[in-house]
Amino acid sequence: MPTNLSANEHFQQVVDRAVSRRGFIVKTGASAATVAFLSAGLTACGGSDDDPLPPAPAPEPAPTLGFTAVTAYTEDGVSVAAGYTATAFAPWGTPLFSTGPGSTWAGDGSETAAAQARQVGDNHDGIHFFPIDGKSSDEGLLVMNHEYSTTLAPAYTNYLTLFGATAAPANTLERVNKAINAWGCSVIHIKRTAGKWNVVLDSQYNRRITSSTPMLLTGPAAGDALLQTSADPTGTIVLGTINNCGNGYTPWGTYLTCEENWNNNFGTTVEPTVDGRTAAQKRYGLASGSTGYGWEVFHARFDYKKEANEANRFGWIVEIDPFDPTSTPKKRTALGRIKHENAAYAIAADGRVVVYTGDDQANDYIYKFVSTGKYVAGDMLNNRNLLDSGTLYVGKFNDGAATGDFMGTGTWIPLTTANPALSAFSSLAEILVNTRLAGDAVGATKMDRPEWVAVHPKTNEVYVTLTNNSGRTVTDDANPRTANRYGQIIRWREAGNDAAALTFEWDLFVLAGNPTMDQTNPLNKGSANVTAANTFNSPDGLGFDQSGRLWIQTDGGYSNTGNYANQGNNQMLAADPVTKEIRRFFAGPKECEVTGLTFTPDSKTLFINVQHPGENGNSHWPEGGTALPRSATVIITKNDGGVIGS
Ligand code: FEO
Ligand code: CA
Ligand code: CA
Ligand code: CA
Repeated sequence: MPTNLSANEHFQQVVDRAVSRRGFIVKTGASAATVAFLSAGLTACGGSDDDPLPPAPAPEPAPTLGFTAVTAYTEDGVSVAAGYTATAFAPWGTPLFSTGPGSTWAGDGSETAAAQARQVGDNHDGIHFFPIDGKSSDEGLLVMNHEYSTTLAPAYTNYLTLFGATAAPANTLERVNKAINAWGCSVIHIKRTAGKWNVVLDSQYNRRITSSTPMLLTGPAAGDALLQTSADPTGTIVLGTINNCGNGYTPWGTYLTCEENWNNNFGTTVEPTVDGRTAAQKRYGLASGSTGYGWEVFHARFDYKKEANEANRFGWIVEIDPFDPTSTPKKRTALGRIKHENAAYAIAADGRVVVYTGDDQANDYIYKFVSTGKYVAGDMLNNRNLLDSGTLYVGKFNDGAATGDFMGTGTWIPLTTANPALSAFSSLAEILVNTRLAGDAVGATKMDRPEWVAVHPKTNEVYVTLTNNSGRTVTDDANPRTANRYGQIIRWREAGNDAAALTFEWDLFVLAGNPTMDQTNPLNKGSANVTAANTFNSPDGLGFDQSGRLWIQTDGGYSNTGNYANQGNNQMLAADPVTKEIRRFFAGPKECEVTGLTFTPDSKTLFINVQHPGENGNSHWPEGGTALPRSATVIITKNDGGVIGS
């Protein structure tokens, strides 16, 4: 590029050139790049002018970012935009019942495994609010993930925190079981009274789902030999869900919890110096010997040399009916087995259900599932098993007309036995269990760690955070930086605006970066919508509100120095998808990540999660003083009672 241009100016120029060449971004006013491809005038995706595709939807008015941005924040509290109130809620250990184990909280980590099984879990992540009656904004079921809790590695204070210890205590069966019970999900009945949200103690809905709760494997791979173990020769009954990261939900009122870094829970105590891993076990990152968690020492099923297939029973999307506390969670094998971040649905033009997912690993893939059956509003009998039958696709992101314009076209490649590239797979079950290997075989595009997916509620455009990839050495237009430490957000529109389409057009919504740094690679200053005021790294959590504001949460470097100077603690920002403007709305306490978001139906209460405050030992949030740090939900309201973000 011309050396007298800033990175932002360069980014602007290449986008401008792409605009004039391809004509699918509408130029208005002074800034072409500030008008997105979701504006009026989009031609049919990936096709010629005479493609028989339906016209693009009418443009949506730009949602207003009505708040004043907060500055980078480095203290051990929370910072939220002026005129808003942020309150910690339901931290780790919160009792759900008034009697029995776990009905009190000592605050010193002394709770037993049995107590933890009846209290809110640790490391809050994905979250969703289900109105109690389908419409209430004052009462509902708050369902959330608890991603992890402990590791033996003393560098992580979560282990110390869980037991209130000052040095890494020896692992025991009781301690491992407490950890197992701190993972999973919580279903919490909550109600607002006189302006204050409370847990409804002893509600029939209150429930903990842990890493030992029985659940079913369903769909095409259920029962397959690859899923059978000595404890479960049927290959259909699993104990627990682990590494519940991001989430999804369905229009029929169920919660989707997504199993991410489950590989870290599987190791071996059998000849640990002999690397006996299969190619698939290596591809999924199982340890060659012991793990940091040590579960394999106390539970043989987590030792893959003793129970080779147990690990195959994790890495799935799990569907939970929060309104039936006796229901058995279902691992939906049709959606594939990866390190699932979250799941975001869309309804195709013909009514089929589409679920987008990302595999959070450097150089891994983006997927979408298209159901066989069609969604019928209000027909639970029809809808309840829609996620058991359909086609799984993996994404290929092509550079398109020009390299260096940060946009292109893409295709969805079917992962089926009919695909000749997958002839080495003996069955659909094998493809679904070893989804990553299938993605490798068909030549999917290696992305910069796909984290959350979000679907715009009005336009159906799909956005995905690509959080970072410090090891990238070969670039393409979708992943345009080597040693990518800042991350980007990619978005696409499916052909014909139909979620089931097999082709799409994409561009980058933002290249995160730090324009306050003297960067060797000018692209590390970020795209034109990154400024000294909103600089951030490692976008991770992502979601739209009903008005179409895009909310971005970060899980990245928080040193506030060097490459991360002037970025402060991890944070949440709001973006306008049309103008591309991004403003910092919230920042969390020290050494946390901000993750998970959900709104009440009136859009006036926002629930987000703060995970692992003080992961390196430097936080006492939320209680302060000398209290143990506790992951917690944060409830955000606008002081004038208005819509969040307006
Ligand atoms: Fe659990 Fe990729 O974040
Ligand atoms: Ca391109
Ligand atoms: Ca995440
Ligand atoms: Ca992350």
